Parts: sequence; C-alpha cells; structure tokens
Amino acid sequence: MSASQAKPVRVALLGCGTVGGEVARLLTEQAGELAARAGAPVELAGIAVRRPDKHPELPPELLTSDAAALIDSDVDVVVELVGGIEPTRTWLLSALAQGKSVVTANKALLAEHSAELFVAADASGADLYFEASVAGAIPLLRPLRESLAGDRITRVMGIVNGTTNYILSAMDSTGAGYAETLDEASRLGYAEADPTADVDGYDAASKAAILASLAFHSRVTIADVHREGIGAVGASDIRAAQVLGRTVKLLAICERVTSDDGSESVSARVHPVMIPRSHQLAGVNGAFNAVYVEADAAGELMFYGQGAGGSPTASAVLGDLVAVARNKVGNGHGPRESAHAALPVRPMGQTPTRYHISLDVADRPGVLAQVAQAFAAHGVSIAAVRQRDKHSTASLVVVTHLAADAALQSTVDDIARLDAVHEVVSVMRVEGED
Ligand code: NDP
Ligand code: HSE
Repeated sequence: MSASQAKPVRVALLGCGTVGGEVARLLTEQAGELAARAGAPVELAGIAVRRPDKHPELPPELLTSDAAALIDSDVDVVVELVGGIEPTRTWLLSALAQGKSVVTANKALLAEHSAELFVAADASGADLYFEASVAGAIPLLRPLRESLAGDRITRVMGIVNGTTNYILSAMDSTGAGYAETLDEASRLGYAEADPTADVDGYDAASKAAILASLAFHSRVTIADVHREGIGAVGASDIRAAQVLGRTVKLLAICERVTSDDGSESVSARVHPVMIPRSHQLAGVNGAFNAVYVEADAAGELMFYGQGAGGSPTASAVLGDLVAVARNKVGNGHGPRESAHAALPVRPMGQTPTRYHISLDVADRPGVLAQVAQAFAAHGVSIAAVRQRDKHSTASLVVVTHLAADAALQSTVDDIARLDAVHEVVSVMRVEGED
C-alpha cells in the first residue's frame, strides 16, 4: 500500500499565530512530501484559535474557538502552538489521557509540568515531542534525547533566546536603544506574547530547565534555574566589554558539578556574561541561537541556527509531527522521559563562576591593596588587574579566578562600600577565558 492510500494521521492544530500559521501553511503546501516521509497522509483536521473571525486566510470549515472539543474529536495528534500554562496544560493532559500524541513548542509549560505530561504519555502509550521548545529550528533536543543517550554529558551552554540576542547584538554593534530594538524583535515575531518573558530571562530559564533535564537525566524545573535577564545590562557594561575586546551575551549554562566527595549535582543558570570577541558565541548575532554540548566521549559539539521566528520554528514542529506520524503508522513510540539519575540541583551561591569587575577608584597609594584585601577576605583569587589613569581617579578592572558565586557577590558588596571606590561601573560574570 502506498503512503497516500494509508489511513490518514489526523492533526488538531491549537493556535495559528506566528508559528502555527507557518505550520498550517507547510502542512498544506507540502502534503504530498510529508505523506511520503510519514508513511501516511498527515491531514489537518481542525484549527483552534481564540478569534476565528480574525483568520480569513484559513478554511472556515476547519476553524473553531473550542480547543477542548477539537481535541476530543476524531484526531490522532495534537499540535499545541498557543503557549502559556493554562488552559494548555489541561488540554494536553486530556489529549495524552486519550492516547493522542502531542507535539508542542511550549517551553513555559514543559519547564513547569513536564513530569505530569510524561506520566500521562507513558500511561496511555502516546508520544510527547517538543523539539521546537528550545532553540527554534535547531535540532538540539533529539540529539540530547537520542544521539547522545549513550554518552555522559557534562555541560550544555549557549544562547537560547533570540529576542535578547537580537537586542544585545544591536546594542553592541549600532548602540541602538533597548526599547526600540525590543519593538522590532516583537514585530519580527521573535518575542513572546509577553516580551518580559524574554528580557527578564524566563524564556531562557525554561529552556535551560528542559536542556538540563534531558542532558543530565534528572528533573529540573524553572524554579531550579538561577535567572537574571538583560534589564540591568546598560551602555556602560557594553562599553566596558568593548574596551577589553569582549562582548555581552545572555547565556544559559547547565553543568554537571562534581564535589570533592565525588557526589554529583546539576547547576542551571541564565544570566548575562562577558565573553571574548574571539569566542564562537560572540559571533552569534540577531535572532540566531548557538549551543555547545560537552560530553565525555563525543567531546565538544556545537549547534547553530535560527532560534526564533515562525518559519524556523515550524520546521522543528513538522519534524516532530512526521516522527509522531511514523510511530503511529509503525505502531511504535518515541523516547520516554529519562529522569533516572535524579541529580540534585546545586544552589547558585555554591556554583563556581568568574567575575569581571570594573571600578572607578581614587588614584592614591594603598587603594589597590584595599581592593585586593576585599577579594582575599572572601577567599577569591584574582586572575588579572588592569589600571588606567584618568584625571584624579583611576579605572580599575579586575578579573577573578573561579570562586563560589556567593563569595564573589559578597566581595563586590564589600568593595562598593570602600571610601576609595567612587563607582562600581560594571559587574559581570565571565565565560570562555582561561
Ligand atoms: P502567537 O501569539 O503568535 O499565537 C498564539 C495563537 O494561539 C494564536 O493563533 C491565538 O489565536 C491562539 N490562542 C490563544 N489563546 C487561545 C485559546 N484560548 N484557544 C484557542 N487558541 C488560542 O504565538 P507564537 O506562535 O509566537 O507562539 C506559540 C508557541 O510557540 C508559544 O508556546 C511560544 O513560546 C512557542 N514558540 C514561539 C517561537 C517564536 O519564534 N514565535 C519560537 C519557539 C517557540 P488568535 O490568532 O485568534 O489570537
Ligand atoms: N521568544 C523566543 C526567543 C522564541 O526570542 O527566543 C523562541 O523560543
């Protein structure tokens, strides 16, 4: 029997905005190709949106505002591209309970509720795929879940939010302002419905939770991820970085940390970072994403591509949809949750980081010694110091060795209180330097 004669796999599409609109278009335009690859026609059975009257571009007979009823109808797969926690959580749990497989790009939901979604999928034998939830078009979750399932991953680090990378790239290259660049990112379809999810780091933190869970076979939720957005990154930070041949990026960093007693834990964090301009992540601009994965046997891998936008994200959704359809045609199923390692999460204060601190200090004898004493008092070792004289003041830049983040924070607090320190110009964590 040819693919076109096989029983169709019927798809309920929830949401037809930036991403869903592209998925609907590609499902229609590439129906023949998708059928050949899936082994059966992949048929759009209905589309749920909030305001059907605002979608003259879609076939009216497919449109509904009742997503729950569409899920309960004669469909095999639910593709969720609405976003948010509720009612999507309830919808997807209902779909999975009915044995209907789910494809979703909803990182916010997965970062909080993946455990119960996986349990529901396991119970009914349905599939749960979510490649589009992290890094848009980039095939990253499948390599972590499948290709690297036999290796021991030690680190996943990268740029996973297109909106903030778009803003930071513009601040660095053209000096453009924060607000105007955010408006442009929203217009281009990169930003979340509420863009504070992007700029305050929640979106990247959700993605870090998903990446850490898969990489370290543990359950990591957004509540476990230390999160700082780009709101505090100002022109002075960008300038301080430029003077030193560095640039500022918002990174998600997930690490397997081994303590002195040999016990392991997971550290997951999102915050702005200064990296050398020669670093590969420094050249990742606009809405592009890039993620490094380090594993014991594989060594270092890098994944790069478009991290946001309708069409790139639709590519990842359709890839999942074809996988789900193939599983259905072949009576198989996709990978299950693998949380067997159950590693604990290490608090940010105990996580080893490095700081770059830029100060304006009084230019007189003994000041450098006072600053150095503050580092020593917290057991923080200095890697490099540079001083540039101004008129009556001096500009001091200190880069530390690795130390517990809490010790570094306390050091900065103490330095800020010194009489000789006129201003703490910039404090930022550093990556990519030895
Ligand atoms: P949009 O805001 O563009 O689209 C949301 C869609 O959901 C709209 O069609 C809207 O209907 C519909 N909708 C909202 N509420 C309901 C409801 N109660 N019932 C039925 N339909 C509803 O979002 P995006 O396409 O940008 O994002 C969708 C998902 O994909 C989110 O989870 C997002 O995080 C994720 N994502 C987005 C990326 C991007 O670059 N945009 C990249 C990767 C993931 P209506 O059209 O009538 O308003
Ligand atoms: N708002 C997200 C971003 C969309 O800017 O990266 C892709 O997940």
